[in-house]
Amino acid sequence: MSEVIGYSDLKIGKLRRGKVRDVYDLGEELLIFHTDRVSAFDVVLPTLIPHKGEYLQKLTVFWFERSKSVFPNHFISIVDNRTIRVRKAKRIDIEWIVRKYLYGSLWREYSQGKRELYGIKLPSGLRKAEELPEPILTPTTKVEKGHDEPITKHEAIELRLVDKDTWDALEEASLKLFEFYEEEAKKRGLIIPDFKLEFGFIGDELIQIDEPPTHDSARIWSLKYYKVGESQEQHCLDKEFLRECLRRMGFHGSGVAPELPKEVVKEVEKRCIGAYKVMAGEMKIEDLNLLSVDDIFK
Ligand SMILES: Nc1ncnc2c1ncn2[C@@H]1O[C@H](COP(=O)(O)OP(=O)(O)OP(=O)(O)O)[C@@H](O)[C@H]1O
Ligand SMILES: [Mg+2]
Repeated sequence: MSEVIGYSDLKIGKLRRGKVRDVYDLGEELLIFHTDRVSAFDVVLPTLIPHKGEYLQKLTVFWFERSKSVFPNHFISIVDNRTIRVRKAKRIDIEWIVRKYLYGSLWREYSQGKRELYGIKLPSGLRKAEELPEPILTPTTKVEKGHDEPITKHEAIELRLVDKDTWDALEEASLKLFEFYEEEAKKRGLIIPDFKLEFGFIGDELIQIDEPPTHDSARIWSLKYYKVGESQEQHCLDKEFLRECLRRMGFHGSGVAPELPKEVVKEVEKRCIGAYKVMAGEMKIEDLNLLSVDDIFK
């Protein structure tokens, strides 16, 4: 039985605690410690999720080792089951979000009648969770405090977050990585409808940093249970299940975050473990016996 850890204390380098990971700055390298913290609506919840950190790291390493032939990334090596060594980069303050399905904030805007989103015209008549003809890039700013805002290429260049060549290179990298992730996920009966990436510079070299698609940074659906027109919360291996539970509990991101009931903790834990095990081919999604939000809040 592994210990549940909310906060690490490695007594090395300079510590910066993110919402989920503790990052130790060692100069040219970082140590990233994966805790069992979980966040939703940009708030860290008071409840820890057993095994979350360990499986978040496993999935992170799984992707970084495989995708480095598509685009270079910061991963160097595993220190222990919660800690990895990575190359420190100068982060570009943009979140590169790629979407292939109409869901989340994109669906919210579309369902309110918007047809031109992020400079892309979408056809009428699309349903919730419907697959888009092409993957689209919907980047946002990355800010230390507060919520991230959509940003266009023009604005990003104007704000000097990147120059034109860097933007073009990262747009291409995000789409190439999307193709790679999509192909790999399909082999395991999974869909990655959208995800968020970060990039940075080491000297003149552009590399992928932060994390690849995981329970926390992407949506992960099952091909077997996918139904267009519907919410995909029950069979998802991502954070949307937790967000929906919190909404049912009346928490939408402001005020004091509530403790999670143990049934919710168990279901979130299953999804964190499952995101790795199903992606790595170690188990099938049906063997997770996932409950729906309705099963819990009867
Ligand atoms: N190789 C790297 N070089 C520099 N910074 C990195 C690198 N990899 C990750 N980071 C940064 O380390 C932090 C990881 O922490 P985490 O994502 O858990 O926290 P967070 O609260 O989500 O913070 P943020 O909102 O900044 O992402 C992020 O700020 C991320 O941008
Ligand atoms: Mg982050």
